[in-house]
Amino acid sequence: MSGDRFGAERFRLVRRSGADGMMRHLFAGATGAPYMISDNVTLPQGEHRKIRLLEAADEAALREMFARCSADDMHLRCFATMKDFPAKMAARLAHMDPAEEIGLVATPLAGEPQQILGVAHVILDHEEEGAAEFDVMVRSDQKGHGIGYALMTALLDEARRRDFKAVVGYILRENHAMLQMAGELGFVAVRFEGAVNFMRVDLATVELPPLGVTAA
Ligand SMILES: CC(C)(COP(=O)(O)OP(=O)(O)OC[C@H]1O[C@@H](n2cnc3c(N)ncnc32)[C@H](O)[C@@H]1OP(=O)(O)O)[C@@H](O)C(=O)NCCC(=O)NCCS
Repeated sequence: MSGDRFGAERFRLVRRSGADGMMRHLFAGATGAPYMISDNVTLPQGEHRKIRLLEAADEAALREMFARCSADDMHLRCFATMKDFPAKMAARLAHMDPAEEIGLVATPLAGEPQQILGVAHVILDHEEEGAAEFDVMVRSDQKGHGIGYALMTALLDEARRRDFKAVVGYILRENHAMLQMAGELGFVAVRFEGAVNFMRVDLATVELPPLGVTAA
């Protein structure tokens, strides 16, 4: 089980009045371990991966992962080209605000050379109270092994455990892999904005699959 590096054991979502008088959601006071974050997830082709909370110390490994993502995948992730994408995205995620964000990474198992193979993240959504907006990216040479699906399953589970009501996200209509995966995980399209579908999953009602598969 991963440690409490971003306060997963301590924090959950509560409403609190900010200095500006606005009600905001913050994490505070959760009990119980995240149950879908796992030291050993079996992927459909029999590979084993670890899923753990993202740490600030992951910045260099994240940069390395993003540097190994194709331009097409960066476009699917950001909907645009971003200068210095690997460095900027790695810094952004490594320095996330634990009061409003959750990050998970997939890595090889302990004892193997460490690298980050995929990352999934949510941030408090300021449009819908109690909702969080997701993003996910798997290193291009690791796609199609079940890492994205496992990360998203664990992320939805962790968001629910921290009392988020819903997870939302924007997905390019050309992004068939992500749209299919989102559909399998219970997301529905609630809005169409140009080339983008705005997707939402209700965490109170969604039935999440178990994490990984049982080895034959
Ligand atoms: C979209 C993306 C995250 C998917 O990650 P991935 O690791 O390649 O996807 P997976 O291997 O987990 O899923 C692939 C397939 O297996 C399915 N799958 C994987 N594990 C599964 C499991 N344990 N049980 C059932 N189905 C599973 C998925 O639904 C999907 O279906 P398909 O085989 O019919 O295509 C990845 O392609 C990516 O990083 N793309 C670029 C960035 C991006 O598009 N981000 C999303 C926008 S925020």
